[in-house]
Amino acid sequence: MTESRHTAVVGLQWGDEGKGKIVDILARDHDYTVRYNGGANAGHTVVIGAERYALHLIPSGIMHPGKVCVVGNGVVVDPHQVIKERDALVTRGIDVSPRRLRLSDRAHVVMPWHKTLDAALENLLSTGQSNAAGADHSIGTTRRGIGPAYADKITRASALRLGDLCDRDHLASRLEVITHIKNAQLLAFDPDHQPFDLEALNAEYARLGDELRPHICDTTYLLHEAMAEGKRLLFEGANACLLDVDHGTFPYVTSSNCSALGIPAGTGVPGRNIREVIGIMKAYTTRVGAGPFPTELKNEIGNRIRERGREYGTTTGRPRRCGWLDLVAVRYSAMLTGATQLAVMLFDVLAGLDELRVCTAYRLRDGSVTQRFLPDAHRLEAAEPVYETLPGFGAEITAARSHDDLPREARAYLKRIEEYVGVKVGIVSVGPERGQTVVRG
Ligand code: IMP
Repeated sequence: MTESRHTAVVGLQWGDEGKGKIVDILARDHDYTVRYNGGANAGHTVVIGAERYALHLIPSGIMHPGKVCVVGNGVVVDPHQVIKERDALVTRGIDVSPRRLRLSDRAHVVMPWHKTLDAALENLLSTGQSNAAGADHSIGTTRRGIGPAYADKITRASALRLGDLCDRDHLASRLEVITHIKNAQLLAFDPDHQPFDLEALNAEYARLGDELRPHICDTTYLLHEAMAEGKRLLFEGANACLLDVDHGTFPYVTSSNCSALGIPAGTGVPGRNIREVIGIMKAYTTRVGAGPFPTELKNEIGNRIRERGREYGTTTGRPRRCGWLDLVAVRYSAMLTGATQLAVMLFDVLAGLDELRVCTAYRLRDGSVTQRFLPDAHRLEAAEPVYETLPGFGAEITAARSHDDLPREARAYLKRIEEYVGVKVGIVSVGPERGQTVVRG
């Protein structure tokens, strides 16, 4: 068997950990960058010099000339979004030719009704009409149609895959059935629903198919052939472990397997082929959307973290909820995803605070204390964080380039993370630029 030299980059919290920056750095040493889950709900920011690139569907590796980017079968693809992103990159001089951007013929298509249904369900849940108490039960989705698209994948009869767009007759026959089903479903939701027009959809999706056809292929064979040739693959997780549909804070999660567990199913590459799993975490915690967040800070410190960390969503622009580092959550995610090293991101944001807190256990309603994460929203809502306090570091650390450049208190904070999680911190990020990174041997 060929030696496995493949790497995965996975978020260990509730997303937005800074995976884009690490993928961008690692992409240099890999030949392929592969997305395996999620869709345009993800937002990966890459900063190169004065330029800032926000990517949603196209893997961050696209910034490296000559590298191949693959959107695997586990991703849900909005064709309009992928074309928009591709064309915006091309305008800025980046090569996004079909040779460089490969899309799985088995990736499911996000259709207009998925976005309509996503928004309709969220509206229904947020207005309190769904329950006698009038409570808001919305998930706070990105409204990109992610959940409804994955639901159709499981339902099967009403799903469309990218490969279906490449054959006009086949597309027309699929769309006829699916549009009928979707119009009926939407009418049940909203009696004023304007039915989707089959003819217009046929024309639109045939055109999108023509445009994307050169990029679409069987990416499972593509990846296996690449591995057989000795090429190195880098798997880029979207969203993050605590948003994993099976292992996250259900139901306040996204609809895919975002941990490294999603790689085999979402790409066709067996898990044993992946040697290194880099768990990406912020030096603190953030969350967008609803759901339990035991260490959330609804105070000055939370606001300070939000402003210093520019904690506003790449995809939706929403302000992110901010809080202390939850080590219970990180240890759980590292275990689940098989992290072989940690990358601690946005460490510079914590500079200037007198003291830093880290959550090392939860106290439950019955008074008991646990060090286990509770991957269920209802149970986690009842958890109170138990904190350990560590000294803060006053000085800015954005110029640090080696571990020894960091103040003693900052090094102690990293050491505590390593001790608690049981995984070494291999990378520390002290600013958004590629160069503002401490790599430990
Ligand atoms: P959906 O993925 O749009 O269905 O949203 C479900 C939940 O996951 C919401 O709370 C979103 O805010 C959250 N979410 C989805 N993708 C990301 C991400 O990339 N970063 C952070 N949160 C995300």
